[in-house]
Amino acid sequence: MNDPPREFLRTDFGHEVYDGWYLEQGSYNFEAPEFVERHFPFYEKALQLSKSDNILEAGCGIGSYAREFARRDYHVVGMDLSPNFLSEAEKITQRENLEIEFILGDYNEMNFEERFNVIFFEGSFFYQSKEGLISLLKRIHKALTPNGRMYFVHSNPSIKKKQFPVDNLSEIKKNVFVLQRGAYDESNNVERCAWLKIDLETHKHYKCDFSVMHLPPDEVKNCLMKAGFKDLHFYKKRRLEDFDPENDKGFSVVAKK
Ligand SMILES: C[S@@+](CC[C@H](N)C(=O)[O-])C[C@H]1O[C@@H](n2cnc3c(N)ncnc32)[C@H](O)[C@@H]1O
Repeated sequence: MNDPPREFLRTDFGHEVYDGWYLEQGSYNFEAPEFVERHFPFYEKALQLSKSDNILEAGCGIGSYAREFARRDYHVVGMDLSPNFLSEAEKITQRENLEIEFILGDYNEMNFEERFNVIFFEGSFFYQSKEGLISLLKRIHKALTPNGRMYFVHSNPSIKKKQFPVDNLSEIKKNVFVLQRGAYDESNNVERCAWLKIDLETHKHYKCDFSVMHLPPDEVKNCLMKAGFKDLHFYKKRRLEDFDPENDKGFSVVAKK
């Protein structure tokens, strides 16, 4: 076998690694239909959903949640920055004879005005800085109608940091390896990760670096209020009970305009 090349190719948004890896391991990343369905009674109650609501699923991936909204007769639009995920989402949605509009875009750049009653993130709410979070929340606030609600799942940094360091090598198919490395920068509450795809057949290597911030719940609350949200509720993840900051790995937030 020839030696693999030494240079690494960096890809925009890490699509080669991220999308390829996830699409091949779909059951790992995208929730199974039973999982999605199981949590809908929670979303419907916590978000006080009505069939006339216009819903945006931000970071919809292959559309697992968007399709469940559509099956339940809600009007939903899915947005994602990955063309690969969206083309998969469109294929599956057509196969199921459902109608969903999918938009290719970065939710950090959304520029809607009072267009949605609900903006929903499930496993897709990411930010790199406090300023970035406030700017995203302001855009969401502007995009919501006067009675609008937003929903996202967030990690609890005091528990999250215990998962690090990460050092994991997996063979996603014969002779194709993904190396995931991650460290937690505790002073800034930032998770820094590097993923490397090593293909011994094509001898192409891809590297994708990313960092995600995990602010503590009281800071998330301050940012929501700074962006103009008034009525906030921090639940246990996908459950109608209150979040316990000492013991819960994460929380579900419903914030009203
Ligand atoms: C872990 S997946 C979850 C997908 C989907 N919500 C689900 O649970 O099946 C995260 C998704 O968020 C998308 N995403 C991440 N950052 C984004 C951004 N800034 N704008 C739009 N989509 C984004 C990714 O492309 C990916 O599809």
